[in-house]
Amino acid sequence: MSSLTGKFALVTGAGRGIGAATAKKLSGAGARVIVNDLDADVAEEVAANLPGAIAAPADLTEPETGDALIALAVEQFGGLDIVVNNAGYIWHSAIHNMTDEQWDAMLDIHISAQFRVLRAYGRWLRENADRNSEIRKVVNISSTMGLHGGATQVAYSAGKAAVVGLTRTLAKEWGRFNVTVNAVAFGAIDTRITGLYESEPNIAIVKGQERKVGFTQQQIDEHSKASPLGRIGSPEDAANAIYLMCVPESDWITGEVILASGGVRS
Ligand SMILES: NC(=O)c1ccc[n+]([C@@H]2O[C@H](COP(=O)([O-])OP(=O)(O)OC[C@H]3O[C@@H](n4cnc5c(N)ncnc54)[C@H](O)[C@@H]3O)[C@@H](O)[C@H]2O)c1
Repeated sequence: MSSLTGKFALVTGAGRGIGAATAKKLSGAGARVIVNDLDADVAEEVAANLPGAIAAPADLTEPETGDALIALAVEQFGGLDIVVNNAGYIWHSAIHNMTDEQWDAMLDIHISAQFRVLRAYGRWLRENADRNSEIRKVVNISSTMGLHGGATQVAYSAGKAAVVGLTRTLAKEWGRFNVTVNAVAFGAIDTRITGLYESEPNIAIVKGQERKVGFTQQQIDEHSKASPLGRIGSPEDAANAIYLMCVPESDWITGEVILASGGVRS
């Protein structure tokens, strides 16, 4: 029997990058996964390749999406054992250039979206779980930027720092439901956010808008040198760290921020 056989999981932002690798990892360990993403095409592609997975394309910044995803899990699976709050993107500027729209957008996706998914999950837990229930797992994705700050990333860093408060609070509230709640804070991971570009930044289309993303070779080299392991992480490295917080061996770990940065501490 695999470590997650019989478990039901929701992974947000699972159409690409870390979320897609996590959906694959959890599925490979036996879980059935709801694959949420803003972009339907990638969510459907990931789900189509995982046994028993369900694509759930939806924008987490819409107020009703959190409730709808939990309702889908209850309808399709009869419950939910693992929630991975992963969806996110970047929209950076130095503070003097940062608009209210930019600030609000970063907090909306990085903390309010996680809050709304977990509020909906908490309402279901109240009716369906207690201290004697089978253990359940929440993993919220933060970043080294949320722990240490990052120049030009004031809104992103504030959102990722807020994830720590959300995580530690719910770890205290949800012990009585036998749910562990942890955050994983990543350093640089090789995804669309950090993809190599030569001269002009790469462009990610998020909600129809162009967002500049990517690293220069120099940035990749700097991040690689900062790690004792001499490289930036892969999506699979990231998914493995999330997986550790989902398996029974981590049942006694809750309210923690796991740093998964290849040893980078700044
Ligand atoms: N890549 C890194 O170096 C790094 C480092 C630290 C933390 N993170 C965090 O990891 C998470 C995953 O990022 P990634 O690097 O895999 O990026 P990615 O762009 O490869 O994947 C993120 C996915 O989230 C989805 N998404 C964005 N907004 C959404 C919304 N409103 N509703 C539903 N889905 C939405 C995107 O469509 C995309 O498929 C993010 O929270 C990011 O901040 C990434």
